[in-house]
Amino acid sequence: MKITYYGHASLGIEVNNVTILVDPFISGNPKASHIDINKLEADYILVTHAHQDHILDVETIAKRTDAVLVSNFEIISHFEKLGLEGHPMNHGGQWDFEFGNVKYVNAIHTSSFPDGSYGGQPGGFVIEGEHKNIYIAGDTALTYDMKLIPLQTNLDLAILPIGDNFTMGIDDAIIASDFVQCDKVLGYHYDTFGYIEIDHEEAKRKFFNKNKDLMLLDIGASIEL
Ligand code: NI
Ligand code: MN
Repeated sequence: MKITYYGHASLGIEVNNVTILVDPFISGNPKASHIDINKLEADYILVTHAHQDHILDVETIAKRTDAVLVSNFEIISHFEKLGLEGHPMNHGGQWDFEFGNVKYVNAIHTSSFPDGSYGGQPGGFVIEGEHKNIYIAGDTALTYDMKLIPLQTNLDLAILPIGDNFTMGIDDAIIASDFVQCDKVLGYHYDTFGYIEIDHEEAKRKFFNKNKDLMLLDIGASIEL
């Protein structure tokens, strides 16, 4: 499984010869200006919630690639009206896709579309493929619900928001990594706007002091699990 960071909360995942994009917000992110959304492949696009900084490029990329959207019922209904193909889920549900299993899990956040319309409740994803398990938390506070994940899944990587203000910050993300029983963390949802700028060295040191590994990838860089 190969995971690429496209800035903010945008990810690419290559698993079992399928390319997945998660929460594509790239064309609106000046820090990701070297990523051309017209060249990104996508078989599936996973969407955690309806906020603009997670859905901005969904329609453009899905129309060009014919990617299948995976999200909650309300978000899929919204995009189906725009002519896109989707697979609706809701919290606690899982589905075996061609590339692996996806479970839509709880997040504590909000989820309205940019025009204020209802985007359902926000979520995160647990993805299993190529015998690797990852948790993509989405925008969320620290929540006890995270403790449910290791009851069923041994995670190889937890992708957690660390920017604070709109989501967990560093200290809560360290506790979240305890809750999900995964010491290998990829940070996301930081530095994009003034509200969520972080000190990289301090963040890494705080994780290191708890015997945990916080990875902060350059935009466009990848890791292999
Ligand atoms: Ni959000
Ligand atoms: Mn966000």
